[in-house]
Amino acid sequence: MNSKNAQILAIFLAISVISAEVHQFQIGYRPNLRQRLAAEGKLAEYHQKQEAARKTLVQAGAPIIDYEDMAYMVQITLGTPAQNFVLFIDTGSSNLWVPDITCAGGKDATCGSYCKSTPYDACLTFCQEECCTKTPQILSTADACQSKHRFNSSLSSTYVTNGQAFDMTYNTGEVKGFFGVDTFCFTNTTACATSQIFGQATTIGEAFGKQPEDGIIGLGWPALAINGQTPPLFNLFNQGQLDQPYFVVYLAKIGPTSQLNGGTFTAGGLDTANCESQVDWVTLTSKTFWQFKLGGASAGTYSSNAGWQAAADTAASFIGAPKTVVEGLAKAVGAYYVSLVGAYFIDCDAVAPDIQFTINGKTYNMPSTSYVVSAGPGPCMFAFYSLTAGGFYPAWMLGPPFMRAYCHVHDMQGARLGLSKVLAH
Ligand SMILES: *[C@@H]1O[C@H](CO)[C@@H](O)[C@H](O)[C@H]1NC(C)=O
Ligand SMILES: *[C@@H]1O[C@H](CO)[C@@H](O)[C@H](O)[C@H]1NC(C)=O
Repeated sequence: MNSKNAQILAIFLAISVISAEVHQFQIGYRPNLRQRLAAEGKLAEYHQKQEAARKTLVQAGAPIIDYEDMAYMVQITLGTPAQNFVLFIDTGSSNLWVPDITCAGGKDATCGSYCKSTPYDACLTFCQEECCTKTPQILSTADACQSKHRFNSSLSSTYVTNGQAFDMTYNTGEVKGFFGVDTFCFTNTTACATSQIFGQATTIGEAFGKQPEDGIIGLGWPALAINGQTPPLFNLFNQGQLDQPYFVVYLAKIGPTSQLNGGTFTAGGLDTANCESQVDWVTLTSKTFWQFKLGGASAGTYSSNAGWQAAADTAASFIGAPKTVVEGLAKAVGAYYVSLVGAYFIDCDAVAPDIQFTINGKTYNMPSTSYVVSAGPGPCMFAFYSLTAGGFYPAWMLGPPFMRAYCHVHDMQGARLGLSKVLAH
């Protein structure tokens, strides 16, 4: 290489280093459907329906993803000029999808359809007053898209057709549509990836229509994505948009009130504002979920060191674990199971011990403030559920209650998960 070329290369490298950045923005929070229903005394009814739907799906051998439990979201844009979407963050899946303009026949509606089916008082919390009715209405499937932000590819100069069909089955409905390719950005940041493949949903299940979010951004590994597509964060990294191959999830807010500022998402570096600088790295055991070996779990006099596969999952909302462990932990902290509603409860002001996890020989403490979840009037919920893992699913889904105690650093290059204690604010 001659010196001129070397000089040009040096300048080029300097520019690419400067253009890669650390991007930081807010994660929104709102209570998940289970909390909302518990607050309204409607959880029992929901549980019966859910069990019936689950049985049908288990017979059909379909994967079950509980999107109704998701609680944390980010804002993103697709296309040029940018079209805005609010998406659930899901480290337990790897596809990005938004409703397409053709969803529900492209009709317009100003109120979310979820508002119409939500009891009046709760509706006032989540929706504008004029969108709430005192007599909840039954929704039809075709209705589910109407309130959503919908992607219109004709408005985007950077859109590229793909057209391949997709069909994802969730426990209460389906998301169907086709794939397209366009520019992806996190709203109001320079974290943008070109040629991002994403789903354009033409049909979304009724249950999704009850949620204010538009779709899902999968943050899992490409191997977990339909057709092995590259998820946005991996695309951002591959395209040199990130300073370091990390994204960090810090979750803060909890309880019955929605918040715009429910946590912080950091792409391209560490989150020094919310997380301690000491990061313990845990090697992943699979590059599908953010999966690793959990050595043991204990609380008070209960302890099990059976050792399991566990996945860090922002979407699980609660912590899914083997039944015997959930029963053991519940007993140790003073939580009780109410079979009618299929959930564990605990007194909100219970003085309960920390739950401890052993990972890589090190102990991680999850205080009761992380796992006792307020659900309106009445007792609080104990943020665990029994998980019947099968096939390639891990035995544990370590959801937000654990993330509220430890920031999760996802290393896309080193295939490891970093845990660092949340800073006291
Ligand atoms: C999508 O955008 C195109 C181009 O502006 C417009 O003609 C069309 O009406 C839009 N579709 C809908 C359903 O709004
Ligand atoms: C993005 O910026 C606009 C204009 O400043 C602002 O109104 C909007 O709330 C911002 N959105 C997010 C998600 O930060």
